[in-house]
Amino acid sequence: MLSTAIRKVIIPAAGLGTRFLPATKASPKEMLPLVDKPLIQYAVEEAVASGIEDIIIITGRGKRAIEDHFDRSFELEENLKGNGKAQLLKDIRRISEIANFCYVRQSEALGLGHAVLCARHLIGDEPFAILLSDEIIDGPVPALAQLIQAYDAGNGGVIGVKKVQRAEVSQYGIIAGRRVAGGLHRVLDLVEKPAPSQAPSRFAVIGRYVLSPDIFPILERTTPGKNREIQLTDALRCLARQAPLYAQEIQGQRHDAGDKLGFLKATVDFALKNPVLGPPFLRYLKQLR
Ligand code: G1P
Repeated sequence: MLSTAIRKVIIPAAGLGTRFLPATKASPKEMLPLVDKPLIQYAVEEAVASGIEDIIIITGRGKRAIEDHFDRSFELEENLKGNGKAQLLKDIRRISEIANFCYVRQSEALGLGHAVLCARHLIGDEPFAILLSDEIIDGPVPALAQLIQAYDAGNGGVIGVKKVQRAEVSQYGIIAGRRVAGGLHRVLDLVEKPAPSQAPSRFAVIGRYVLSPDIFPILERTTPGKNREIQLTDALRCLARQAPLYAQEIQGQRHDAGDKLGFLKATVDFALKNPVLGPPFLRYLKQLR
């Protein structure tokens, strides 16, 4: 059953994409195509499949292509109509009709926490989701829907986590937690990108959050942390001290598509699953050395 309470998602998309240079010098990293769809379309589709109606995208300079992607394209639609490409026309139209879109500009790259704070006036006093589009999670139940279910069942914010290798902990927010049921942990503390020797666990925050607006006043007070950025993780750490906060282990194959190697792996996985491209692509891969 889908929750009726979580209607809005914030998708931060103002980051500079430094992990993927030079591709991201003049093009948004959110528009990198995984087979034939940009990363941010997977994010929006996951949100919609989880019951979200309003998509709030935090953009910045050089990100115009994102707005164009979710807008109508009359010239293209006329062209497809004229050429009898009915299915393609339907697919293209659907992109602009899938949800309500709203854009907020983050004028300076001050960090993920600051990006989320930019949408405060659009959230009001209802719980909401945050979804980071470079984390692609593929599985039968959308990752955000798994979190919303946990949020509905409990009485506190929920963040999505997955176990990573010890050597990888320095790339993520890492929780210290106490398991309370199946894949659910009570969050006791969080640390942003710790050195492997300092990490309190191997459970990494994987870019999915369901929170109440109580996070906003905390974010407002949060001072720059790791990499001199206002970190969402630091605000969550403070939240966990004043209210129950949970971490739900997310089921599904996760790809860090904002990283070059992660992106290549995601591309191979999604291409092999594609009904048209999969078989010839597999034949090609098999004849490689
Ligand atoms: C952000 C968060 C981090 C989280 C990660 C997931 O980091 O700050 O806590 O683990 O996303 O991808 P970023 O990758 O934006 O540096």
